[in-house]
Parts: sequence; structure tokens; C-alpha cells
Amino acid sequence: MNVVLFGPPGAGKGTQAKELSQKYDIPHISTGDILRANVREGTELGLKAKEYMDKGELVPDQVLIGLIKDRLEEPDCANGYLLDGYPRTIPQADALTGILNEINKPLDSVINMGVGDEELVKRLSGRRSCKCGESYHIMFNSPKEEGVCNACGGQLYQRDDDREDVIRQRLAVYNDKTKPLIEYYDNAGLLVNVDGAGLVDSVLADICKIMDQYK
Ligand code: AP5
Ligand code: MG
Ligand code: ZN
Repeated sequence: MNVVLFGPPGAGKGTQAKELSQKYDIPHISTGDILRANVREGTELGLKAKEYMDKGELVPDQVLIGLIKDRLEEPDCANGYLLDGYPRTIPQADALTGILNEINKPLDSVINMGVGDEELVKRLSGRRSCKCGESYHIMFNSPKEEGVCNACGGQLYQRDDDREDVIRQRLAVYNDKTKPLIEYYDNAGLLVNVDGAGLVDSVLADICKIMDQYK
């Protein structure tokens, strides 16, 4: 099954994608995670991307289009993929259509997770992340031991872009550049809306109802 998990920063894309990827045995492809891994490793791509990410701006389209093309051509995408954080602009969406036609894996669905702005700010400002990919929330999903990852024992940290001023900028960029994709995919007959504001498990159940149709 070939799905885009779509939604504003903090909608819960990463949280849901982790569960869905295990349940349906398809890779979770998060462009944010790929970029952050590059930043940590100090690659050329990482150095370039960090300037944009720290300001809450989008990394240039051409960089992302190359990155996602390489990733989708990897063998683990043979049975499908779950995209998280891509596409974020109309040119990225147009490029994606071309790539998916080439590899003959067209989209089944774009699942749009709706959450209000103030809830997004609360979620992002309280998020704590781990290098292993887990993420927590100081109120909504706290680790067993404060500051320590349940899964790997690693030390939790706050993402550089999870400061309130950068969060507001990310939301503004979302509204300006990314939100138009809702209409874009609605016109293409691919958009399905879910309420992302409920509890993690109830949002998951709603998304599974949609994904089960593509099994
Ligand atoms: P990226 O990493 O994709 O960040 P984002 O889209 O801003 O989304 P987040 O990861 O912040 O939110 P999420 O929806 O995954 O929420 P999560 O599940 O963690 O991108 C970062 C940057 O990289 C961009 O700003 C840009 O610079 C660059 N970039 C990436 N892709 C790009 C692209 N395609 N083009 C250009 N640039 C790109 O949940 C958030 C918090 O809420 C957590 O603490 C979680 O525990 C909690 N939570 C989750 N669900 C619930 C719930 N139901 N109830 C209560 N709390 C919940
Ligand atoms: Mg994420
Ligand atoms: Zn961890």
C-alpha cells in the first residue's frame, strides 16, 4: 500500500507512522528524520539542510526531490511505502507523481491529519526526542524515567526547531507552502481526512480503517 501521511508540524505523523509501519510491514520514510540523520553525521547535505531547518524554513525542493527519488527506488519499498513529511510543496508533489509513475507505484491515498494550531504548539513545545527515533511528550506521553528513552536508554533532547518562535514559523510555512496540497490531492481524488486531535490510539484506529482498504 502506497500512502502519504499528511499534516502540519506536530500533527502526529511520526507517532502514527511508527505504528503503521510495523503493522503493515512497509517502510516509514520521513524526510525530516533523513535530514536530521545527515545533520548528525555532518554530511554535506546535513550542513546545507541545517541552516533551513533551524529557522523553520523548507529545504530547497531540488534537494528533497533527489533524496526521495533515491529512497523510493530502494528494494524495501517493493510492497509499498508510508511517506511522512513529503511532499510539502506543489513542485515536490508534481515530482513525486513523475517518480511514482516511473517505478509503477502510484499513490493509494493521502491521509490528512487535522489538528488545531494551539494544540500543535503544545505538542511540539513539549516533545522530547531520542536519537533512536522514539519521541515522547512531557505531559501526553512521558517516558518512565524523566529524560531517558524507554526503548534504548538514550538521553532525550529537545529538537532545535521545537522552540516556540521556530514552531510558529514552521506553522506559517505550512500554511503558505504545504496546505495548498490539500486541495491538490482532493482534486486528484486521493485525499482522506482524519481527525488528528484525539488520543493516539483512536487516531491510529481511524487511519487503520482507511489503510485496511488497500491491503
Ligand atoms: P519534519 O521532521 O518532517 O517535521 P514536521 O513536519 O514539522 O513534523 P514534526 O515531526 O514536528 O511532527 P509530527 O507530525 O511527526 O508529530 P509527532 O508524531 O512527532 O521536518 C523538519 C524540518 O525538516 C522542516 O521544517 C524542514 O526544514 C525540513 N524538511 C523535512 N521534510 C521536508 C520537505 N519535504 N521539504 C522541505 N523541507 C523539509 O508528534 C508531536 C508531539 O505530539 C510528540 O511529542 C508526540 O508524543 C505528541 N503527540 C502525537 N500524537 C498525539 C496525540 N494524538 N495526542 C497528544 N499528543 C500527541
Ligand atoms: Mg515527525
Ligand atoms: Zn531511544
